[in-house]
Amino acid sequence: MDKRIVSTDLQLEDNENSIRPLNLKEYIGQQGTKEALEIFISAAKNRQESLDHVLLYGPPGLGKTTLAGVIANEMGVEFKVTSGPAIEKPGDIAAILNNLKLGDILFIDEIHRMPRFVEEVLYSAMEDFCIDIVVGKGPNAKSIRINLQKFTLIGATTRAGMLSSPLRDRFGIIQRLEYYTLEELAQIITRTSKILDTEISQDASIEIAKCSRGTPRLANRFFKRVRDIAQIKYNNNSIDKDIALSALGLLNLDENGLDELDRRILNTIATTFKGGPVGIDTLAITLSEEKETLEDVYEPYLMQKGLLQRTHRGRMLTENAYQILKNYT
Ligand code: ADE
Repeated sequence: MDKRIVSTDLQLEDNENSIRPLNLKEYIGQQGTKEALEIFISAAKNRQESLDHVLLYGPPGLGKTTLAGVIANEMGVEFKVTSGPAIEKPGDIAAILNNLKLGDILFIDEIHRMPRFVEEVLYSAMEDFCIDIVVGKGPNAKSIRINLQKFTLIGATTRAGMLSSPLRDRFGIIQRLEYYTLEELAQIITRTSKILDTEISQDASIEIAKCSRGTPRLANRFFKRVRDIAQIKYNNNSIDKDIALSALGLLNLDENGLDELDRRILNTIATTFKGGPVGIDTLAITLSEEKETLEDVYEPYLMQKGLLQRTHRGRMLTENAYQILKNYT
């Protein structure tokens, strides 16, 4: 495991870490965010201060954890990782905060899923670098103040709107991550292929990128599966466009970047609900899927592709969606 990543409760696979970029120069895409961070990191380092707290938000799979690790490396500090649902009690977050050293970065993934009474501990920690905890019960209860080292909190969320405003207001740097372009995803795939010692042509990278829903997580995952298929089925450690297309077909992915659930969502709205509008709860029940998965993972991409509209009456298909569905049948 990368020594610079000290994980408190989230174990990152070796293989995943070896393909993660370590600095901003290696990090592909998110140009606006990168330029802003470069300035804020340089300024903090010049003043020999810790970086202001950072909130990264955007759909899953865009590299929020990776970017947080990059920030820690650029600042030259330790990186501790945890996640909102893993912190159950104020004592959990107090223990993590109390162990941070000067300048350390604490990364909290899915920060919107932290219970409110835990979140409240963060307010004074972020603002005044101290926490008040209550020890004992009843008349013997005492509040004690613990002073903390100046640290940087990096929060990641798929839902900035679900953060309470007291928490959101305590982040000095707020950056939204965007879906990656095909060219950026192809560059990421080419970079990964070099690290994993496999050759891939530019047009093969583009074909994998087309299926990756704008996210490096899927681009890297599909690249690895295509590489497996190339090795075993084609006895080839080098991937060209034909091999890539045939492997992507085996993986049930299409050139619109839609997977099986995307297609089911579009088909269900088209047939069962006559194109919509349909409410998200009804749609989730009909598809036997979690409402949150539809809202956080599937809808943002379908809307970005111009296939789905969210209206105040519910979800509706666009004209483009009907064109795509026609090609499937
Ligand atoms: N791997 C995952 N995300 C990446 C990115 N943005 N740049 C380079 N490699 C990556």
